[in-house]
Amino acid sequence: MAVSVALRGVSRRYPGLIALDEVDLEVAAGEAVMLTGPSGAGKSTVLHVTGGMDRPDEGSVEIDGKELRPRDLDGHRRRIGFVFQRFHLLPALTVLDNVLAPVLPRKVDFDRRERGTELLEAVGLGGRADALPAELSGGQQQRVAVARALINRPGLLLADEPTGNLDSVIGREIIDLLMSLRERYGMTMLIATHDAEVAANGDRVVRLQDGRITSDQRLTPSGDVLDRLGGLRP
Ligand SMILES: Nc1ncnc2c1ncn2[C@@H]1O[C@H](COP(=O)(O)OP(=O)(O)O)[C@@H](O)[C@H]1O
Ligand SMILES: [Mg+2]
Repeated sequence: MAVSVALRGVSRRYPGLIALDEVDLEVAAGEAVMLTGPSGAGKSTVLHVTGGMDRPDEGSVEIDGKELRPRDLDGHRRRIGFVFQRFHLLPALTVLDNVLAPVLPRKVDFDRRERGTELLEAVGLGGRADALPAELSGGQQQRVAVARALINRPGLLLADEPTGNLDSVIGREIIDLLMSLRERYGMTMLIATHDAEVAANGDRVVRLQDGRITSDQRLTPSGDVLDRLGGLRP
């Protein structure tokens, strides 16, 4: 189930620099928000703080209106999916085992192979379960990484320059895939990209510069998000 996200007065500082400076950002459940801005603007830091991989020095992150506390972070990280610019697949594992890697060491209440197989089909790689990552193209490897990000059925997907290592045609396919998976599984998405063409696929484009939000532009009427959620809810 898609979750809402709010950053409230989030600051993150490093010695001599402010990566995020009192950032306020509300993302509705089911919304796809594109984070843009120059290198060093703070896009990755927003994703890390939202995903519980980093903690704000000040301010808070709320998921469905509930503040994330340090003791919640492990559980929170399991309830989100993360897609990286570099696909970070494990080269010695098959495609299917890469998709299952996040849940191999844990007890889960679903059939791992069944879900992994379903997700590989959902990303268009149903026939490649037994391949090794090196046998796939870059775009196919990113599809595997997307399937892996969905193994826990996250309500929130965070993607950091997911098309940054791909040419524009393949990058376009990955963005189209992410948008269709959002509808199919019901997810909120925060996607960092410096590519304006990629950003145009979101519901909103939020621009960061020097750790601050400098513009927040809505591309689709907010009612569309509600309609989509209406369609997703049983
Ligand atoms: N671990 C770190 N140590 C010191 N500075 C960091 C660290 N991580 C990020 N920064 C700095 O924080 C700022 C924002 O970085 P980042 O969020 O990665 O920007 P973006 O993803 O928009 O390129 C940059 O100036 C970056 O150098
Ligand atoms: Mg970055």
